[in-house]
Amino acid sequence: MTTRRAFLGGTAASAACAVLPGAAAGGPLRATAQAAAMPSLVARETSVRLAPPDYPATGIWGYDATMPGPVVRLPQGGRVSRRLVNELPQATSVHWHGVRIDNAMDGVAGLTQDAVPPGGEFDIDFVAPDAGTYWYHAHNRSWEQVARGLYGALVVEEAEGPNIDRDEVLILDDWRLDPETAQLVPDFTAAHDQSHAGRLGNFIATNGTYGYTRDVRRHERMRLRLINAANARVFQLALAGLEGWIVALDGMPLEMPQLVSETMVLGPAQRVDLLVDVTAAPGEAAHLVRVGDGQGYSQAAFNVTGEAAVARRGAPQPLPPNRGTAARPDLAAARRVRLVMSGGAMGRMQSAVLDGERRGFRDLAAAGKFWSFNDTVGMTETPLAELSRGEPVRLEIVNDTVFPHAMHLHGMHFREVRDGTAAGPMRDTAMILAGETREIAFTADNPGDWLFHCHMLSHAASGMMTWMRVA
Ligand code: C2O
Ligand code: CU
Repeated sequence: MTTRRAFLGGTAASAACAVLPGAAAGGPLRATAQAAAMPSLVARETSVRLAPPDYPATGIWGYDATMPGPVVRLPQGGRVSRRLVNELPQATSVHWHGVRIDNAMDGVAGLTQDAVPPGGEFDIDFVAPDAGTYWYHAHNRSWEQVARGLYGALVVEEAEGPNIDRDEVLILDDWRLDPETAQLVPDFTAAHDQSHAGRLGNFIATNGTYGYTRDVRRHERMRLRLINAANARVFQLALAGLEGWIVALDGMPLEMPQLVSETMVLGPAQRVDLLVDVTAAPGEAAHLVRVGDGQGYSQAAFNVTGEAAVARRGAPQPLPPNRGTAARPDLAAARRVRLVMSGGAMGRMQSAVLDGERRGFRDLAAAGKFWSFNDTVGMTETPLAELSRGEPVRLEIVNDTVFPHAMHLHGMHFREVRDGTAAGPMRDTAMILAGETREIAFTADNPGDWLFHCHMLSHAASGMMTWMRVA
């Protein structure tokens, strides 16, 4: 934490000057079905002004030389067509997180496609069926490549969106920077991170900038699309000078907007869409507040420069539901699957099976493997479950570890089972706290091979990864 104070201490006055190359260069991109030439998405090394101006630029890996990558924005039902060009020194792939996507376009190196080698290309082409806030990120050596900056927002717009004055994508991340040089610390597979809470950073940014600030007017209504792109950090967020409602989680609209009255938890890879009204007076600042160590920090500041012409609107209407999401999975008919998560520091795991061989914890640790799902470390030949298309599934997740985990299912959203019904909101990533047992349910309606893993990427790297097949 001293490192963060050093950054904060040295920069209070210059925060507003921080430059965000992504904002200037990466304007919104509208993909259309008729797009003649496929626009490229170039993954390459570059440097960006991440730390405050008295530090050198930080070498990162980014899409189209920006960080975050360009906002890919399209209407619901539109196509994303991009040619991934890999100019990195490492093989890579792009995953479109949260999209009910065609399996061949899911971008999981080693499962749905081969990693694209340096100098190689891969044509991305898919339809985005659901409106909402999604994101894309590298899915080869993701614990390293996401930490290096390979991610961006995917915004799919409703045909009839809410009545708002502005729409802001806010990507939250924490970076592990050398406090002297502001360069990334390249310890992506450190055993301590893998076996504990994952790789946390010491420099917290919004859209790749310190002291993210926007000018707004009082009574404006904003849609804030928050995306947690951090490798492991769980953000606790609150509002100050803003009154807001949660209208969607992980892209999917809530049936009723939910007034923000307490701290919001945003686990790795999760998204929340807020509609917020600026209530702070002109001359004041409103904030998206990050709560940590019992204190509040500005994660994004909104300087109120005047009054909006319009008076405050009333409470918002729900966003229109995405097609085919109203039906609940049939729990009575559902296949039951169980997943027991074990391992990690201070855990009970004595041994587990790695590559078909049972090995003791010390032996596994020496191989950089600290976690198991159902007594097995990492990916196996056979899936956790082979499901038939349209089959309802109840998946019980037992967290027998002393850490929280952010479990992400590719290709399909699920609902949490509460009091015997699939009553929870639709999500693609669920925070399962230490010691908790929770149950999720979904209808296996998207054919293909779908990863199910912890989005604390150091945990995924060290064992927390499995998959399901939908025939
Ligand atoms: Cu956001 Cu398997 O990924
Ligand atoms: Cu985890």
